[in-house]
Amino acid sequence: MSKIATLEIDGNKFELPIVIGSENEAAVDISKLRDQSGVITLDPGYKNSGSCKSEITFLDGELGILRYRGYAIEDLAEKAHFLEVSYLVIFGELPTASQLLQYETDIRKYTLVNEEMKSIIDGFPKTAHPMGVLSALTSALTAFNPKSVNAENEKEMYEAVCKTMGKFLVIATWTYRKSMGFPLNYYDNTKGYVENFMHLMFELPTGPYTPDPVVINALDKLFILHADHEQNCSTSTVRMVGSSHAGLFASISAGVSALWGPLHGGANQAVLEMLEDIQKDGGDADKYLAKAKDKNDPFRLMGFGHRVYKNFDPRAKIIKKAADEVLSTLGVDDPILSIAKRLEESALQDDYFKSRNLYPNVDFYSGIIYRALGIPTDMFTVMFAIGRLPGWIAQWKEMRENKEPIGRPRQIYVGYPLREFKRSQE
Ligand code: CMC
Repeated sequence: MSKIATLEIDGNKFELPIVIGSENEAAVDISKLRDQSGVITLDPGYKNSGSCKSEITFLDGELGILRYRGYAIEDLAEKAHFLEVSYLVIFGELPTASQLLQYETDIRKYTLVNEEMKSIIDGFPKTAHPMGVLSALTSALTAFNPKSVNAENEKEMYEAVCKTMGKFLVIATWTYRKSMGFPLNYYDNTKGYVENFMHLMFELPTGPYTPDPVVINALDKLFILHADHEQNCSTSTVRMVGSSHAGLFASISAGVSALWGPLHGGANQAVLEMLEDIQKDGGDADKYLAKAKDKNDPFRLMGFGHRVYKNFDPRAKIIKKAADEVLSTLGVDDPILSIAKRLEESALQDDYFKSRNLYPNVDFYSGIIYRALGIPTDMFTVMFAIGRLPGWIAQWKEMRENKEPIGRPRQIYVGYPLREFKRSQE
């Protein structure tokens, strides 16, 4: 491919460099375009715009490829553990056995959350959505850790990573404990990270709690599948907020809010609610497919479609298989799974979905697994956030290390021209 693109505006030609990525993705570098020509580009939703160069995640939406730091998602989901993957995503290489042990030990140093955080959580009504509470609590962590991390100092950054990994898991589970009226639990430093998630969520003072290893393994895999996904809405939010040199907790809190929306991470909750509605309505999947295709009906088939994957979502393939395995191992016969499969089969044969390249995404089957594992529906997006945390940290770290400028898009103003100030007489 040529190294230069030429743009002609009103007979004037502008040469723009073409940047080629390590997987041969090409981008026209327009960073000097306005200075040279006076015009900007317009791309709502950033469908055609790269916001950065990144070494973290590669995905090819046409071929259904997803890799973290060069490792295939299929390999990582099968062979690695979540903490190991989080280290890989954040620091760039798989940890050695001793690095991993040290990392786990260092995370444990920070798993105690300041007791005063409890009075903040007490200010929320029990009915508050866990994602809203999680975003607020993550931001509140800043009050107890006011020193902003210097991302270029390796030691400081490492400590900030361990602190964030430790505390975020605890406060994420507190959102559930609060909604149930249960006493808030402490991380148990004798247990593993994912095992602790179950302990923090479900162990009560009234008796011992031993989570099923099948459940721990399934959760571990789900967290791995969510660990990063390059410049999606919440990750771009984290980078954007961090680009003003706001701290890590503040940036992640903003990412949690972005993830909450039903077009992004909130889709996993929306999928399950949709499947339950279909079940209550007699289980007729085709009726809901028709609704999704009707342009006068705002209903969308939740868990279908993706901005980048236009063939299949590799995470959905792994999750579908895992859903079958988990449900059969746990002996759960969930009619919702058959509705999901029917819906998927019909949609994949339907011209509307085929012509728009709409395939099941990561959220289509994840909720079914969460439900089988006993996770309440409004915690599903919190599960996504726990999994995505390493990605947010890694992207924030990379953005600061690369000394990226503050994110500040431009616009094309289409409002009134200058008007004379005059009050209406009526
Ligand atoms: N059901 C019905 N029609 C759909 C759907 C859907 N789920 N998704 C897209 N379309 C149609 C859309 O109406 C449009 O049709 P037309 O060209 O006739 O106007 C066409 O497909 C293109 O849609 P778009 O909204 O322009 O595509 P996008 O790339 O902006 O949106 C999306 C991607 C994920 C927001 C969208 O597919 C969607 O809303 N899906 C449902 C929500 C969902 O499952 N989100 C989770 C995404 S994966 C997890 C994550 O990483 O966040």
